[in-house]
Amino acid sequence: MKRQHFHTRQTTFRQLETFLLVAERLSVTEAARVLHLAQPSVSTQIAKLEQSLGLKLFEQIGKRLHLTDAGKEVQAGARQIFAALDHLDMRLAHLNGLTAGQLRLGAVTTAKYLVPRLLGPFCRQYPQVEVELNIANRSEVIRRLERNLDDLYVFSQPPRHLDLDVVPLADNPLVVIAPAGHRFAGKRLRWEQLVDEPFLSREPGSGTRLAIEEHFARFGWTVRPQMTIESNEAIKESVAAGLGIAILSRHTLIHTAPGNLVELDVEGFPIPNRWYLVRWRTKNPSPAAQAFSRFAEIPSDTPVLPQ
Ligand code: PGA
Repeated sequence: MKRQHFHTRQTTFRQLETFLLVAERLSVTEAARVLHLAQPSVSTQIAKLEQSLGLKLFEQIGKRLHLTDAGKEVQAGARQIFAALDHLDMRLAHLNGLTAGQLRLGAVTTAKYLVPRLLGPFCRQYPQVEVELNIANRSEVIRRLERNLDDLYVFSQPPRHLDLDVVPLADNPLVVIAPAGHRFAGKRLRWEQLVDEPFLSREPGSGTRLAIEEHFARFGWTVRPQMTIESNEAIKESVAAGLGIAILSRHTLIHTAPGNLVELDVEGFPIPNRWYLVRWRTKNPSPAAQAFSRFAEIPSDTPVLPQ
C-alpha cells in the first residue's frame, strides 16, 4: 500500500491546535474550556485526527489521560509546525513593517472607478500604509505631478513631454450615452447622425475631453459642446434629464440606476482608451510606492467592468 504523507492526510491546523492543548492539559474538559468549545466537539476533533493518522494518540488509564508514543511524536511534530508558522508570521510582519508609511496617489476623475478596487486588497495586505488619494482632472493631476506632490499617478492620457515611467493598467473605453428611450437607442449609427444632438462635454483640461478631441481629429469630425460640465456624475445626470448626449468612460456608468441612460451603438466607438500607472523615471520610490506598483501591475482576474 502506498504510504500516505502527513500533509496529504485530512489533518487540519485546527485539529493539531486542539490536540496540542489536550496533550498539554491531559484533559478534554480543560481544553474545551480554554477553546470555548463543547467537550464533544473537542473529542470529535481528536477522533478525526486519530482517524486520519490511523493511530491512537491518547489512552485512558484509570481516570487519567496519557499520551501514547505516537501521541508524543505528534505533539513534538505539531510544536515544530506551529513554531515554523510563528516564525513565518514574524518574517511577514517584518516585511509589512518595511512597507509602512504614506502612499500619496494622484488620479484623474475616471480612475476613481479603478483605484479603490486596487486599494481595497492593497490596504488589507499593508494595513500600516496610510493612503492619500487626490482626485482631479488631467491638467490638475499634471500640475501635482510637476510639483512632485504624489508618489504615483493614474492617468489615461499620460503627459508626453515628461520623463515618466508609464505602465498600462486596464482599459477605459469611452462610449456615447443618451437618455433612456432615446430614438436612436438600439440602432447602429454613424457619428454624423448625432451632430444635431446637444453635446455635453467635460471642461478643457479634462483627459476625457482630450481623448475625444484627438479621436475626432483622426476622423475629421469636430466637437461642438453645447454645455461644459466639470463632473462625470453631473454630465450623467444632465444626459438622463434629457439635456443632450455625451461621451464618457464606460466605467462611470457602473453605478447608474438601470433605465436612466443608454449607451448608443455608434461606428468608431467606443474610443479605445486605457489607464496607466505613472511615476517620475528618476524618482526614488518609497517602499509603500514600490509595494503599490507591484500590486497594481499584477494583472487581476477580476474584471473592472462587470461582464
Ligand atoms: P479627466 O480624466 O477627469 O481629466 O477627464 C479622465 C481620464 O483621463 O481618464
